[in-house]
Amino acid sequence: MQTERIKDMLDGGKPGEKVIVKGWVRSFRNNQFIAINDGSTMRNMQAVVGLDDVDESLRKRITVGAAVEVHGELVESPGHGQTVEVKVSEVIILGDADPEEYPIQPKKHSLEFLREKAHLRFRTNTFAAVFRIRHALSFAIHKYFNDRGFYYLHTPIITGSDAEGAGEMFRVTTLDLHNVPKTDSGDVDVSKDFFGKETNLTVSGQLEAELAALALGKVYTFGPTFRAENSNTSRHLAEFWMIEPEVAFADIHDNMNLAEDFLQYTVRYILENCAEDLEFLAKREADAEKQKPQNERHDMPLTDRMRFVVENAFERITYTEAIDILRNSKPYKKKKFQYPVEWGTDLQSEHERYLVEKHFNKPVIITDYPKGFKAFYMRLNEDGKTVAAMDVLFPGIGEIMGGSQREERLDVLKQKCAEFDIPDEHVWWYLETRKYGTCPHSGFGLGFERLMMFVTGMTNIRDVIPFPRTPKNAEF
Ligand code: 4AD
Ligand code: MG
Repeated sequence: MQTERIKDMLDGGKPGEKVIVKGWVRSFRNNQFIAINDGSTMRNMQAVVGLDDVDESLRKRITVGAAVEVHGELVESPGHGQTVEVKVSEVIILGDADPEEYPIQPKKHSLEFLREKAHLRFRTNTFAAVFRIRHALSFAIHKYFNDRGFYYLHTPIITGSDAEGAGEMFRVTTLDLHNVPKTDSGDVDVSKDFFGKETNLTVSGQLEAELAALALGKVYTFGPTFRAENSNTSRHLAEFWMIEPEVAFADIHDNMNLAEDFLQYTVRYILENCAEDLEFLAKREADAEKQKPQNERHDMPLTDRMRFVVENAFERITYTEAIDILRNSKPYKKKKFQYPVEWGTDLQSEHERYLVEKHFNKPVIITDYPKGFKAFYMRLNEDGKTVAAMDVLFPGIGEIMGGSQREERLDVLKQKCAEFDIPDEHVWWYLETRKYGTCPHSGFGLGFERLMMFVTGMTNIRDVIPFPRTPKNAEF
């Protein structure tokens, strides 16, 4: 007999069917009722052990966390919460879990505690729900692009270029760190390194995606990216996943339309396909909110926030308009902002939060930032001061996406490289696409884990990726 998933048995199993259930014990009540979970659903299969059917020594080994195989027959369940249960004829212990030592007990564990136990936290309802949703969200993203004629492009993980120019990169080397070869002038002799040049883990696949878009038309990347920024916040990871579409013959307005449609589609997909897990996470959030002071609580429950994003157009404003709104705001006038609000300085998260959560109370796309603090590749606007950049900000999350129309004019791009101290020989291949058949094109990068936070209600980014990498933490 084949082992079926518990989900399928609970959804479609008929009384009288002989079944084999394999999973992990969630609880064992009254020496009689085993709740078994196999990860296919939030719901457990109840297996009822007759008092004489299983001997005492075996019964003792049915403990929380143990892996079991149960043989029996489906019967109608008198209990609430499930339609069928298993009347057990045989229990086989596949793997014991010593109750004195097994750390995941059927009680509330703090998320901080579970982070230390990331190898076992999949076995909690919360993390099983989060990682089932993570799968569904990845799938929705691929489906969205596939259905619209985009090609999935694998861009390199090891790279010699710094796409964002922020210099926050992890060095990749095979040089002996105890005996680093030096040049006559005392610098590291990178010609002796594996690639014969300095290489790093990529911060973005964008530059390579652009090359492909200028032939394949519409492409996207979906891969790991790495940033050595030493920011120990609840929204930053050193290793995170980014989705980067790149579209030829598209300007900044097409880019905004794509971003909005894409985000609404993926959030709707989760609402429609992950109802059971969402319901659990919404309840979890509502319970957690009760511990918080009134002013820190969400005004809407999780699924309402998601529906709101799906059903309402995003607000679109320019950076210059954002500065005006901020300078006329109460917190600005009462000197509540920590950072200055002046045209030409970057918006800080306190400013973004005010705009998104207080002023507009919905997702906001801010465009046309001053060129000084945005990347070299963004297209210079007619005013010569701003670039065709766009940041998408979400309530409770902050920046979820960054993107732009790209500078397609060779002379302007060369000038920008000079301003940003990027030597031509580092980006000669990128410049050549502007020399041969250049065209307007645009794209953006979505921080996958930031969107995960939005669709799960988890407030720390470490809790939406299986094994988070953050400063001083690369366990597992
Ligand atoms: O705004 P960023 O730096 O944009 C780029 O890398 C562009 N090359 C994208 C493009 O136009 N193709 O990063 C994009 C998004 C951010 O908006 C944020 O959501 C996420 O990536 N992100 C991070 N997520 C988690 N941890 C970090 N340290 C992140 N840094 C950026
Ligand atoms: Mg950004």
